[in-house]
Amino acid sequence: MKAVAVRPGQPDSVHLAELPKPKVEDIPDGRGVLVRVLKVGVDATDREINEALYGTAPPGSDFLVLGHECFGVVEEVGPAVKHVKPGDYVACTVRRPGGSIYDKIGRSDITSEATYYERGICLLHGFLTEYFVDDLEFIVRMPVGLKHLHVLAEPMSVAAKAVEQAYEAQKRLQVWSPKRAFVLGAGQIGLLTTLILRLRNLEVYTLARTKPPTLKADIVEELGAEYISLRDKSLSELADEVGQADIIVEATGNSQVAFESMNVLGQNGVLVWTSITGGRSSHEIHSDKINLDWVLGNKLLLGTVNGNYRHFELGIADLALGEVTYPGVIEKILTNPVDGLENYAEMMRLLVEDKSALKVYVNVADE
Ligand code: BGC
Ligand code: ZN
Repeated sequence: MKAVAVRPGQPDSVHLAELPKPKVEDIPDGRGVLVRVLKVGVDATDREINEALYGTAPPGSDFLVLGHECFGVVEEVGPAVKHVKPGDYVACTVRRPGGSIYDKIGRSDITSEATYYERGICLLHGFLTEYFVDDLEFIVRMPVGLKHLHVLAEPMSVAAKAVEQAYEAQKRLQVWSPKRAFVLGAGQIGLLTTLILRLRNLEVYTLARTKPPTLKADIVEELGAEYISLRDKSLSELADEVGQADIIVEATGNSQVAFESMNVLGQNGVLVWTSITGGRSSHEIHSDKINLDWVLGNKLLLGTVNGNYRHFELGIADLALGEVTYPGVIEKILTNPVDGLENYAEMMRLLVEDKSALKVYVNVADE
């Protein structure tokens, strides 16, 4: 069967590869779920892997199959599988366990090992192919009423984890009740985080570079948040005007913004960093001032990556709530379909060149 792959370390090596079709028996103890892939989303991670900034092939392979945002339909299950059946729509988690205590309790998303295993990213083949098989513990059922949101399950799990971790950590304050949020970046993670925070009734300001009118600004406004172009207003101007934030979620992919946002977090606040910055840039910061403010203000900085099974469930529940609260808004994120695995060059072109593409995804097969 066909697959879209890269040769890690070799820039612009995206190509079509051949893989054997997997079987449900490939997974031991009757725990296999064979999935026919319908759609796969791609994002900046896939672009950076093709730019050879990121990504590792599985041992013994000279290529890595891309794709970590998967939506498919169950084709066949082993006898131990009870939570999904053939015909069900599913998404699939990305990380696989290593050897740490966190991996052993189902929390590979917070592994304490430096090496991590991620399908389509690091040491394991991804989903940009026709079929895949995996252990039942990684297959997440997607409600049929959400099938039009398909590949958003994975990015939503990342956003759901970011917000959940912030609320978990803020239990340190006993009575934390956030009112105002700044979301930095209006890509998929920024928009989905805006949704999650609006569903928790926060006053949300979502900031990005481009000036409205744009689709991302419209989506932000339709979610009941305020869109701010950083060309019109700086972070500190915004904070002077509306007050500092109780929670900031940074998802711009720009480490300078990540540090600058430390200046606009309020007392007892939490700043969540989600950007994977593979570059080498460095910037000057007012370290004495930040240090002083953060100590006197009991502020918290939290890094978060990936989402595990439970975060997929949390994210899917919020997608459902989002659909009834803001009908028809979330699907506007799904801007750029590409038809067929063989159109991988167009997929990469959209990721690299089209700044207005909020979400590029591949229609791998019809139902
Ligand atoms: C994926 C995450 C992954 C992270 C780091 C992101 O693009 O959505 O699941 O953990 O990259 O590789
Ligand atoms: Zn991703």
